[in-house]
Amino acid sequence: MSFRARHLLGVEPLAPDEIVTLLDLAESYVSLNRRTVKHGDALDGLTQINLFFEASTRTQSSFELAGKRLGADVMNMAVAQSSVKKGETLIDTALTLNAMHPDLLVVRHPESGAVNLLAEKVNCAVINAGDGRHEHPTQALLDALTIRRAKGRLHRLTIAICGDIAHSRVARSNLILLGKMENRVRLVGPATLMPSGVAELGCEVFEDMRAGLDEADVVMMLRLQKERMDGGFIPSEREYYHRWGLDAEKLALAKPDAIVMHPGPMNRGVEIDGTIADDINRSVIQDQVEMGVAVRMAAMDLLARNLRAERGARAAGDVYV
Ligand code: NCD
Repeated sequence: MSFRARHLLGVEPLAPDEIVTLLDLAESYVSLNRRTVKHGDALDGLTQINLFFEASTRTQSSFELAGKRLGADVMNMAVAQSSVKKGETLIDTALTLNAMHPDLLVVRHPESGAVNLLAEKVNCAVINAGDGRHEHPTQALLDALTIRRAKGRLHRLTIAICGDIAHSRVARSNLILLGKMENRVRLVGPATLMPSGVAELGCEVFEDMRAGLDEADVVMMLRLQKERMDGGFIPSEREYYHRWGLDAEKLALAKPDAIVMHPGPMNRGVEIDGTIADDINRSVIQDQVEMGVAVRMAAMDLLARNLRAERGARAAGDVYV
């Protein structure tokens, strides 16, 4: 099996063949999820803990459903952010949870790198459900599956990622994954919302949205992450919508069959016009949600196989020692 990872902390360490393995398996879960009886047994007997240090609706429910459909015992833990030193809280929580013998730990945290740190302290497989501005691997994988189904391929496409790139882990994971699969990635948005060192990312950068959307196959809109801004990033929401909001006129510059994506939650009328978001001929936003459950089932299935193999090898080793 060509999926070797022990944790899913980001798309950065994944090889193209591992990405394809995961997406192919996710396809089979899309079919399962469309049946009336949606049960698989890949996670039977395993314990999955969803540990969210940051609010989430769709990602957390998606992971919960994915685990339940594959037979895991799923527990949700929402951890309120307190003023306690974050590092300490994180490690304490990790050690407490580790003592409960979870097999899969799904973690979201506002600090970049926090999930990697936690993975070093526990004995189970860890999945990053979004850490600060760093990575959100299952989002990029579900976006990849959505694109592959809509376009029939996941290479040689022109993909415009638009808006608040600087604060977005979704943008970061997507540009890494889409680059690995040999697509042309464009970053479109105001200079104030571009990450520092953007020139080294290997993407084309556009401040002018119309030029950035020209002949694009995929238009990926991002939410303005106001909670990560400390003021001064955009002129006003009205002005922002006028220049970088996706409306029918700007979308007309992309290819006639270009698809529109958004990871949610959307600010309608700020980064995207509500009518476009709801247009089932252009928008694949609901497909992204559907693919999310399937991709998370596939990710947890693959990690659980590696975990069982590792534990099996260790147990077999014990016998001969
Ligand atoms: C994204 C996230 O949390 O990074 N949302 C999500 O996972 N559904 C994007 C966002 O919050 O804008």
